[in-house]
Amino acid sequence: MAGISTHDYTSVIGRAFGNFIVVRELGRGAMGAVFIGYQKSLKRQVAIKLLPKAIARSESARQQFRDEAETIAVLSHPNIITIFESGEDDEYFYQVMQLVEGQDLARILAKLRRHPVPTRRIMPLHHTMRLVGEVLEGLEFAHEEGVVHQDLKPANILVDNRTGRALIADFGIAKTRQIEFYARGLVVGTPQYLSPEQAAAEDTDRRTDIYSMGVILFELLAGKLPIRDESGKETVVRKIKQPDTFFTQPPAACSPWIDETMEGIILKATAADRSKRFVSARAFGQSLRRWADARLQRDRAAP
Ligand SMILES: Nc1ncnc2c1ncn2[C@@H]1O[C@H](COP(=O)(O)OP(=O)(O)OP(=O)(O)O)[C@@H](O)[C@H]1O
Ligand SMILES: [Mg+2]
Repeated sequence: MAGISTHDYTSVIGRAFGNFIVVRELGRGAMGAVFIGYQKSLKRQVAIKLLPKAIARSESARQQFRDEAETIAVLSHPNIITIFESGEDDEYFYQVMQLVEGQDLARILAKLRRHPVPTRRIMPLHHTMRLVGEVLEGLEFAHEEGVVHQDLKPANILVDNRTGRALIADFGIAKTRQIEFYARGLVVGTPQYLSPEQAAAEDTDRRTDIYSMGVILFELLAGKLPIRDESGKETVVRKIKQPDTFFTQPPAACSPWIDETMEGIILKATAADRSKRFVSARAFGQSLRRWADARLQRDRAAP
């Protein structure tokens, strides 16, 4: 298979997609690559995501990309990356979006883990709570618009350097990939954030994103997830057959910040049976706020 890592993007530098010129590469993902681009008419920098058509080979995956591009264009929210344009040429699907000057959460977490001072290897609690709260607001908005992300993970949450705001990237692209990869029986990337229903290739709904967000919350609070060193394929099988064994330790054993109530929140968000999860991102966010408020009061009351 022409894997993404082997795709040669050198010829796209300087190329125009609509009114946008590709300037330089920002980074690569499992299916595409993101570039800094320039929009001459408005004299502004943008981000351009390119998905080689050689990778989305099946007509259904291609059609899915076109349909999703239309759906996500309506998502206008401060915590969701704005899409300016999308289209295709002979070789690529492209998506032009707001350029975020900052870093994605996966990179921030990786950097934190390497911090020389052990107590600084976890993001400060108020920071975590704010980021998760913002992502949940973006999700709630999208869900109300009928759009499920389906590939929520730290790499798809960008944090703006200047404002500190969290912005969700890659809404809708997951489905294209899913169709293609399921068709070819492939598992790509780390399926840590994948819900059991996705692992089983069942239909998804807003609770799918809630599951992924629960895993991300756990990771942020604990610094890292208590999971096995196993292949992506093994994790997928585990999520289908024994989803309750995904975490090797209970959340409260992994961080002093995770008390019984927070453990309850994490386990509810990541329940294998989706009818046991929070019914909405809003309900999830409310529980988190209640927890944070109670904690603040307790800290104030402490001598
Ligand atoms: N709008 C944007 N502004 C700035 N950087 C971006 C933007 N969108 C993506 N990036 C960066 O580009 C890199 C590649 O993103 P991409 O979405 O291709 O990979 P990914 O999210 O790691 O994997 P996947 O293909 O599974 O989504 C990431 O490091 C991300 O931080
Ligand atoms: Mg991404």
